[in-house]
Amino acid sequence: MATTDVALPHSVHLESGPNGLARLAVRDNRYGTAEIYLHGAQITSWVPPEHAPVLWLSAASVFADDVAIRGGVPICFPWFGGGPRGDQRPSHGYARLREWELTRAADTPDGVEIELVLPHAAGDLPLAATYRITVGTSLVLSLEVRNTSGEPVAYEEALHTYLAVSDIAAVGVEGLAGEAYLDRLGGPDPIVQEEQVVRVADELDRIYVGTPATVVVDDPQLRRRLVVSKTGSQNTVVWNPWTEKARAMADFGDEEYRTMLCVETANVRTGAVVVGPGESHTMTATIAAQPRP
Ligand code: BG6
Repeated sequence: MATTDVALPHSVHLESGPNGLARLAVRDNRYGTAEIYLHGAQITSWVPPEHAPVLWLSAASVFADDVAIRGGVPICFPWFGGGPRGDQRPSHGYARLREWELTRAADTPDGVEIELVLPHAAGDLPLAATYRITVGTSLVLSLEVRNTSGEPVAYEEALHTYLAVSDIAAVGVEGLAGEAYLDRLGGPDPIVQEEQVVRVADELDRIYVGTPATVVVDDPQLRRRLVVSKTGSQNTVVWNPWTEKARAMADFGDEEYRTMLCVETANVRTGAVVVGPGESHTMTATIAAQPRP
């Protein structure tokens, strides 16, 4: 079914965003507002009632067919970065550069539900991806992947969540004490996190391995705690580019690294998913904004 054939509830509007990119705008909804681009099936905004925006979006982001939007929740699939061997292109997979199709939009007692599917193109892995977003008391993001072939297929995935923070120097990242991580800026051996709370004071790029943990970004200045919980995910990636890497990116303002932190729900590297013929796997990230006591 084409996107334009899907009946929309009164709270969901199909509209034109920057450079004519189609997006779904959720308004007049008791759980807050949201914006979702068909390009990459990328949610770029979620503002729950009485909260500042939860998702970060760069003011320098490029909105174009062949570029990933810088912010919100890009979907990295079916590989992460350059893939397990580092040689796959485009970086973070093709899903974030494609126009997804809307297949369902509904207003339910639990919130607004949106479903999008990734159209299959020549050269793609034999995997059918369906993405479900619920804009409710929490933001629920669920990526279901089904193997359409007769052989097992391996893939990587990440819901590359850019969280908005008041000031990176003032926030603490809780939930990962005692967990092992691969430092993408260091050597190949896993390191166990000894600190109870991670404070970001430099470039940080970590893949936490084998962790089902809920991560909390405690933000005293915004008086809130952003809680990222998950299912079907073995890895959590935590990333902030800091000064030099931010400057090197054309779609990232020089000082914007101060107001974001990525906490990514993922299955990457040794956590890659292998799905058998006809089988499927679902990874879900749930993001909640809680007032700070
Ligand atoms: C993170 C990676 O997930 O994504 C970083 O850990 C990477 O290494 C970042 O720089 C951004 O990637 P991209 O392709 O969106 O610039």
